[in-house]
Amino acid sequence: MFVFSLFLILIHEQGLTQVSGLDDGFIQTDGVHFMLNGAPFYANGFNSYWLMDVASNPSQRFKVTTAFQAAVDNSLMIGRTWAFSDGEFNLLQSSPGVYNENWFQALDFVIYEARKFGVKLILSLVNNFDDYGGKIQYVEWAKQQGQQIHNEDGFFTNPMVKAFYKNHIKAVLTRRNTITGVVYKNDSMIMAWELMNEPRCPSDASGATIQNWISEMGGYLKSIDGNHLLTVGLEGFYGSSSSQKNPNKAPHGTDFIANNQIPHIDFATVHCWPQLWLPKSDNAAQMAFLKHWINDHINDTQQILRKPVLFKEFGKSSKERGYNVSQRNNLYNMVYSSIYASARTNGAAAGGLFWQQLVEGMDNYKDGNEVILTEPSSTVRLISRQSKKLSHVRRRFFKD
Ligand SMILES: *[C@@H]1O[C@H](CO)[C@@H](O)[C@H](O)[C@H]1NC(C)=O
Ligand SMILES: *[C@@H]1O[C@H](CO)[C@@H](O)[C@H](O)[C@H]1NC(C)=O
Ligand SMILES: *[C@@H]1O[C@H](CO)[C@@H](O)[C@H](O)[C@H]1NC(C)=O
Repeated sequence: MFVFSLFLILIHEQGLTQVSGLDDGFIQTDGVHFMLNGAPFYANGFNSYWLMDVASNPSQRFKVTTAFQAAVDNSLMIGRTWAFSDGEFNLLQSSPGVYNENWFQALDFVIYEARKFGVKLILSLVNNFDDYGGKIQYVEWAKQQGQQIHNEDGFFTNPMVKAFYKNHIKAVLTRRNTITGVVYKNDSMIMAWELMNEPRCPSDASGATIQNWISEMGGYLKSIDGNHLLTVGLEGFYGSSSSQKNPNKAPHGTDFIANNQIPHIDFATVHCWPQLWLPKSDNAAQMAFLKHWINDHINDTQQILRKPVLFKEFGKSSKERGYNVSQRNNLYNMVYSSIYASARTNGAAAGGLFWQQLVEGMDNYKDGNEVILTEPSSTVRLISRQSKKLSHVRRRFFKD
């Protein structure tokens, strides 16, 4: 038995906006299912890493609203975005523990809008790569304070860097939203935290370094926040015992199985970038790889991990040589149909988040993968159809 609940949130503290919107509880897990108010949760989603960045400019803030509106118009219920921006003056964290209030208020706005539109958020806490700072920025900060660190993988082991990162976790999770008054760790519009966007540790192919880091940081995060789910942020590369399943059989210092078996980790994630991982292969070979990649991950999550799995990034760039839109649609179709096949048999694959949603007037953010939902296209129709199929799966659980 399940009843949709529409809560009116009334905030009595002075100066806070009264917010009404969908607030139907924290997402939890039960075996291979995400759960929302006692019923399995299957949903389609999108990536828009830029929401806080764009919202930090008041004249551009409307684009965040446009993105959420376009998402719900296509029944997209999960959005993934960055809760980090590290480094230069004028970013969220300009030096360790020093935060720019303007950026934090931008993130407040993003979460407020998510509530208004009823979209659940996955918030990532740091980048493996150097966009918006990343692990190299943390390492640089520690070096500036006299630490000897040989390469950027020192991010995972150096005590000062780890303290900086824990401090960021705490700063974000204990932030009180200036618009809604709700502390982030208490905000049910946040579906999950992600420790890092696409962690890799090439200097330790055994996987031990990342494994220890996830355990430590997962434990720390959960000691602050018992409400939210946590995921690592993995692309899905297997460890040495199964590295034949990886693109070019290459190790990346992560282990899809062992990393996701850590008890603090609530669900697994998979990224699908065969064209980046197998640049020398043609489209057909990349798609053949992708088919195995998807099936292996759904099967392993279902059989071994017994946790839910999200396909958290996939896309096809129009900047690739020989690109045409049917290639993109074929890739989307392969991901979507695999998720749906699992979902309709109550399986572990719960949703897919395409990379990436932009709105009009964002040419500087175009990476070739962008989809603008307000511009009608075969890809937009495909996204919308998948959303509806997954909501049908979900609705089955409401009836009896
Ligand atoms: C979070 O919510 C709980 C339960 O409603 C409440 O007791 C607690 O004070 C809240 N924490 C903060 C920091 O607002
Ligand atoms: C699914 O995973 C299990 C456990 O690893 C394995 O034994 C089985 O062969 C896999 N099935 C398929 C179809 O890949
Ligand atoms: C798109 O590219 C594929 C090759 O990957 C080709 O088979 C197909 O005919 C192309 N479609 C169009 C509409 O050009």
